[in-house]
Amino acid sequence: MNYNKKTVRDADVDGKKVLLRCDFNVPLSKETGEITSDKRIRAAIPTIQYLLNHHAAVIACSHLGKPKGERKESLSLKPVAKRLGELLRREVLFAADTIGPDAKAKAAALQPGQILLLENLRFDIREEKNGADFAQELASMADVYVSDAFGTVHRAHASTAGVASYLPAYAGLLVEKEISIMGRALEDPKRPFVAILGGAKVSDKIGVINNLLGKADTILIGGGMAYTFIKAQGYGIGTSLLEEDRLEYARDMLVKAKEKNVRLLLPVDTLVGDAFREDCARKTVDIREIPDGWMGMDIGPRSIERYCAQIAEAGTVVWNGPMGVFEFPPFAEGTKAVAKAMAECSAVTIVGGGDSAAAVEQFGYADRMTHISTGGGASLEFLEGKELPGVACLLDA
Ligand code: 3PG
Repeated sequence: MNYNKKTVRDADVDGKKVLLRCDFNVPLSKETGEITSDKRIRAAIPTIQYLLNHHAAVIACSHLGKPKGERKESLSLKPVAKRLGELLRREVLFAADTIGPDAKAKAAALQPGQILLLENLRFDIREEKNGADFAQELASMADVYVSDAFGTVHRAHASTAGVASYLPAYAGLLVEKEISIMGRALEDPKRPFVAILGGAKVSDKIGVINNLLGKADTILIGGGMAYTFIKAQGYGIGTSLLEEDRLEYARDMLVKAKEKNVRLLLPVDTLVGDAFREDCARKTVDIREIPDGWMGMDIGPRSIERYCAQIAEAGTVVWNGPMGVFEFPPFAEGTKAVAKAMAECSAVTIVGGGDSAAAVEQFGYADRMTHISTGGGASLEFLEGKELPGVACLLDA
């Protein structure tokens, strides 16, 4: 797809009302309902600041969680408005509805240099259904649309795609940054280009592997998905994660990688546990000798060494998916080692959102990566080479 899109810098926003789609889908504490990470709110600041400095009146909107068309107080964006105000050091007005009378009145009265946050878009079912009437109502409050919700650009919803039919649509600075950094890594990478893919399921990564087989020099496989590949080579995997219906695909990929001259590396050893528990019995075994009744829960030390050596020599590293069950400290070594190797190497390092981003944060390497995507599903679909509806709808440059 064409990623060459007009950005907010190309838009005339002076004195205009700007509908700004952000991804304020932040994690909330189950106990207190408090925001546990404001990373996504901070990531939206450059565009908001740009718009305010250029005398726009900013009408920000976002979803939070999956309320499925119902108003749920626990998923109100009100706490986000408060946190955003603290970060911006200015008042952030809040509308108690999304396209209702409060939103309309506050949007109409909004002055250049002011910011208003609308209530959770997904309190209305028409948001996710991309309802034209809902998109039109949203658009009716503004003169210009700016998409800065990178984490949600893979959704064709009313606020991420529908509104672009009614307003001139531009990319925000976050969307521009995510797309240009990841786009360059895919289209013109500094080589060798090493992709590290982990996580539980092969099925989640099929699209990425397919796309990267034509682009990467080396693919390192870890996490639960590795064991389907090991089984596909004819070895026993005990009680490790297996996707029977992906065995054929895994075999095909191993063949395709050879044909395309891509080094597809699998773990050579693994740390197994006798149950899926943090305090289970564990031992390191050769990948071809996983005992019955034991489960692979992390890559082993020889695999770590092999993978880190590839990372050390890379020009570009893209990582999506943990190497093991890193939420259990005894099985976090593989994921931690990959994060450390990426932090210490001289390559362009890109971490897809979701679990790998959380791991990098948790292990304290976040500020040593070139880029950590704010999108989980969105960065995955980007790496798959899929069209992203929230980007496709923007004006071409
Ligand atoms: C995310 O957290 O990945 C985005 O905010 C998208 O959320 P969704 O998966 O609920 O659409």
